[in-house]
Amino acid sequence: MMKKIGIVGAGYVGISTAVLFAELGHRVTLVDIDKEKVEKINAGKAPIYEKGLQELLEKHVGKTLSATTSYDIINESDIIFICVGTPSKEDGSINLDYVRKSSEEISERIGGYKVIVVKSTVLPGTTENVVIPILEKGSGKNVGKDFGVCMNPEFLREGNAIYDSFHPDRIVIGEYDKKSGNILEDLYKPLNAPIFRTNLKTAEMIKYASNAFLATKISFANEIANICEKIGGVDVYDVMKGVGMDHRISPYFLNAGVGFGGSCFPKDLKALIKFSEEKSYKPILLKSVLEVNDYQPKHLVDRIEEKVGSLKGKNVCILGLSFKPNTDDVRESRAIIIVNELIKRGAHIIAYDPKAKENFRKLFPNIIYVDNVDDALKKAEICIIQADWDEFKNLDYSRYKNLVLIADGRRTISKKIDIPYITVGYRW
Ligand code: UGA
Repeated sequence: MMKKIGIVGAGYVGISTAVLFAELGHRVTLVDIDKEKVEKINAGKAPIYEKGLQELLEKHVGKTLSATTSYDIINESDIIFICVGTPSKEDGSINLDYVRKSSEEISERIGGYKVIVVKSTVLPGTTENVVIPILEKGSGKNVGKDFGVCMNPEFLREGNAIYDSFHPDRIVIGEYDKKSGNILEDLYKPLNAPIFRTNLKTAEMIKYASNAFLATKISFANEIANICEKIGGVDVYDVMKGVGMDHRISPYFLNAGVGFGGSCFPKDLKALIKFSEEKSYKPILLKSVLEVNDYQPKHLVDRIEEKVGSLKGKNVCILGLSFKPNTDDVRESRAIIIVNELIKRGAHIIAYDPKAKENFRKLFPNIIYVDNVDDALKKAEICIIQADWDEFKNLDYSRYKNLVLIADGRRTISKKIDIPYITVGYRW
């Protein structure tokens, strides 16, 4: 049956959820405080770069999908998803300002029975101890009787968010009561994905544990990579291929490189570390995962200097500024650490990225940016590959006689090239 769905927050989670439910035949309204974003969506234009998003917006906007800056649509919604950001504070703890604010706004408009679903990543206990009390106080109504509550974490990858929304490995539903859980389960049924129902706190923890585990796999591969470099003749990519063939391990997230970035892994790990410390447990493993991750980009720059000597005055190009390919997001990108290291060591930096240049420019206005990879390579003595965009894979690097070294931070180049080459996890 067609439902009226309100989605608060039009970031990549909110917008992917919106197009998913519009495509499944529901009437969806996105609420966001950013007027410009709302106007863009209503004009059928994707406010962020996500594969497949533009097409789905064109298909549904003006029909069953719209956006607004006003919370008033909450009144007539059956189900409301909270998809606002939960950024890190200076000390690594989680900032719940947007979650609180949106809960307050929703609480004033509960009216008839509806289910409020927290999709934002929040620490265990937040839905119960922060969101529900705000909803009850503001509405004067009771959870479980006048309205329902669920916690439904998302596992979308940026850049693949639309695909992941339509093809989830699992749907986790944390429920305050059976009625709320049943309503949410019905909504997801057409996807035919495994559904796991549990309590609110467990759903919140599943999200953190999933991200922490994936980050741990990456740091594990990176640590083995660093040991392989000491041996010589052992390639970590072959090692992980052999390791990943064990079905208990799986081959995914074992790609060694300059480490993980993005708006999720570093932030969620820091928040979980802080949370456990507040509960008087020192999370030894999680802290090491971050430590390895911070070591990786600096270690690559050290290895470059070992090969070519001081970087002072040398022209170094960095290819790939986003935290991974197919996105313009530069949050916690390893390119930030690499560029800071290069600046510290006195290099002249030439930066290129197919999509993320403008976002990176806001962080580093004083380095040189070029519009295509050829301009980057023909001016550089050293080339660092930080994100494995397709366009870097099959380039004829040998054409650039000016290059004295390529440092491949993501194992992007698979062909043999006749330019001195170093990469993470292998030493000849
Ligand atoms: C991550 C999770 O993969 C999603 O499941 C989750 O929903 C999301 O965070 C979130 O919490 O919102 P995302 O940050 O978009 O998604 O990016 P990933 O594709 O997971 O990559 C994260 C970083 O790890 C990138 O910098 C990538 O280059 C790096 N990575 C990934 C590696 O270094 N090695 C690998 O084997 C895999």
